[in-house]
Amino acid sequence: MNAQKLIDTAKALVAGYKGLLAMDESNTTCNKRFASFGIPQTEEARRAYREMIVTTPGLGKCISGAILCDETIRQNKKDGTPFIKAITDEGVIPGIKVDAGAKDMAGHPGERITEGLDGLGARLVEYSHMGVRFAKWRAVIAMGDGIPSRGCVEANAQALARYAALCQEAGLVPVVEPEVLMDGEHTLEQCREVTEEVLRTVFNHLYTQRVMLEGLILKPNMVLPGLTCPKQKTVDEVADATVTCLLRAVPAAVPGIAFLSGGQSGELASARLNAMNVRFKSRLPWGLTFSFARAIQQPSMEIWSGQDANIAAAQHALHHRAKCNVAARRGEYQVSVKSTDNTPLLS
Ligand code: G3H
Repeated sequence: MNAQKLIDTAKALVAGYKGLLAMDESNTTCNKRFASFGIPQTEEARRAYREMIVTTPGLGKCISGAILCDETIRQNKKDGTPFIKAITDEGVIPGIKVDAGAKDMAGHPGERITEGLDGLGARLVEYSHMGVRFAKWRAVIAMGDGIPSRGCVEANAQALARYAALCQEAGLVPVVEPEVLMDGEHTLEQCREVTEEVLRTVFNHLYTQRVMLEGLILKPNMVLPGLTCPKQKTVDEVADATVTCLLRAVPAAVPGIAFLSGGQSGELASARLNAMNVRFKSRLPWGLTFSFARAIQQPSMEIWSGQDANIAAAQHALHHRAKCNVAARRGEYQVSVKSTDNTPLLS
């Protein structure tokens, strides 16, 4: 294992107020999102959409790393340039989603376990030869009546740790993503407790599997009340609960924390990240940044709608959201929208 290479890549992923762009939706998820905008659900449409993203002018000024899926990493621009070359030339570090998705967990109704460890070592070597420098694995933890169970949290944490160890062995920085889902009526406090338990368990397993903390990125959820919880919270309350939880559970050796957006609107995700940086940045041991999919891509996918004529406008929208998140890292994001989900935007 080349420890210094891992440390350098991990640092580069959180450097310069940039963040990650998750563009690694599985074909099924991508098709579902396409369907809602009337876009054809074909391999060529997915390729054209990803070409729109990777050729966005100025992308590399906001985005440090892009997470692709297996289909995309093997695709090319229309002119034949491989996507991986296009993003590397733009100064963006190429990454890959390597889990095989979350499946129903035996003996644990309502809970899921992420699969994909079989043969992972060989796949990572192949990706590394292609020029990929980091990888992502997402575990999902649902909240509800009697869940998450200890069995689900432990099994997912162990899989994350085994994936992370394999990544480092292959020279790739693992992005470790334990996502506590937003669905449900749970309160902010309940989400904080569960997120803290999940993160503590994940770091215990990372330690057990001898994963080098300086060579990984954590990709957690923000601490939020459930989507249907009647007691929604202000941006500042979310920022305080999230940072309190992270300070308790994430070792200072970790170089960066890059949040997933999890279904928040782009504006809210940026506002909450901004508040964390405004209120806490000077006393945090790790960088706090973004690794959003929906919260960066959503408006541009809608504008693009599968039409070449809309590419420039879609790229403008994508770049705008990416810039908003760079501003949020600096603590300079201006909230200029009304909440659409009954959440107070201003404290
Ligand atoms: O695994 C999920 C993605 O990497 C993040 O997606 O920002 O839409 O939650 P999201």
